Formats: sequence, structure tokens, C-alpha cells
Amino acid sequence: MKTAIFPGSFDPITNGHFDIINRARLIFDQVIILVLTNIDKQMMFSFNERANMISLVVDKFSNVKVDVYNGLLADYLREMKDVVVVKGVRSVLDFQYEFEMASINKKLNLKFDTLFFPAYGDNVFVSSTLIKQIISFNGDISGMVPEQIKSMVMKK
Ligand code: PNS
Repeated sequence: MKTAIFPGSFDPITNGHFDIINRARLIFDQVIILVLTNIDKQMMFSFNERANMISLVVDKFSNVKVDVYNGLLADYLREMKDVVVVKGVRSVLDFQYEFEMASINKKLNLKFDTLFFPAYGDNVFVSSTLIKQIISFNGDISGMVPEQIKSMVMKK
């Protein structure tokens, strides 16, 4: 069984993330969305809030699961077989960062590889960071996050 692990901070999940999940679930037998800590980013939502929002959105997909881990991605994957990591890339800047992450992860754990999915259309400019800015000033995030979580995100 081929499993795709989609790691990220998902603070919160965006339509861009959702698009990657939707594409990956058609290619792989199973997709695990892994909520991790990004020490470079100030989180707005707790681990549980982030995982719960994702669960609400992917509930309808039988081959998609959500997990949380407070550690290195390379360690989470240590005992797993037949897995690849999937990440979305929106720009050359994203690619530069993701390329470095893929390389260091490969160094830490030689067993797995990283596949990149290009972002398309409006998702090219959607990011969790921009969404947090918009909600901080009561702006409209319609079309940027899945409808099921919009009110939860706005309440923050
Ligand atoms: O959605 P993000 O914030 O771009 O995701 C980044 C994330 C969470 C995948 C990355 O920070 C991460 O892998 N964090 C866990 C610690 C780790 O394994 N870091 C990579 C080796 S230094």
C-alpha cells in the first residue's frame, strides 16, 4: 500500500492545502496529513485545533487520515514503509525552501523521498500566513479556506 504523507503546520488549512490533498488521494492508496511544528512560525491555532479543522474538511474521504507529531518528520517516518512525502509549491521561493527541506530530510532519513505538486490558479497566492493577516483585520477569507472551517477561523 502506497502512502503519501503531507506534512505542514496547517495554521490553518487553506484551499491550497486542500487541493494538494485532493490530488494526492487520487494517486496514492492512502494520504496522511501530518500536523507538525514549524519553529520559524508563530502558531495561531493549537495542535488540536489545526488537526480538528483538517478532520472536518477531509472527513468525506475514506483514504485520508490526520495525525499530529511534535518532532522531526524524519523520525515520524522512521518505522514506515512505502511512503513518500508530498508538498505543494506555489513559487520559485517556495521551491527553494522545500528543496532545502527535502534535502535535509533525506540526510536525516535516507528511506523516503519528497514529491512536489505545483499549485494552480488562485491557490498560487493563498497561504496560511496571509490568511492570519487578513483575519487579524476582519478581512474576507472567502475562497481561501474550505467553507466548513471558515467561521472557526474567523472567530479567532
Ligand atoms: O506548512 P509549513 O509551515 O511550511 O510546514 C513546515 C513543516 C512543519 C513541514 C516543517 O517545519 C517541519 O518539517 N517541521 C518538523 C521538524 C522537522 O522535521 N524539520 C525539518 C528538518 S530541520
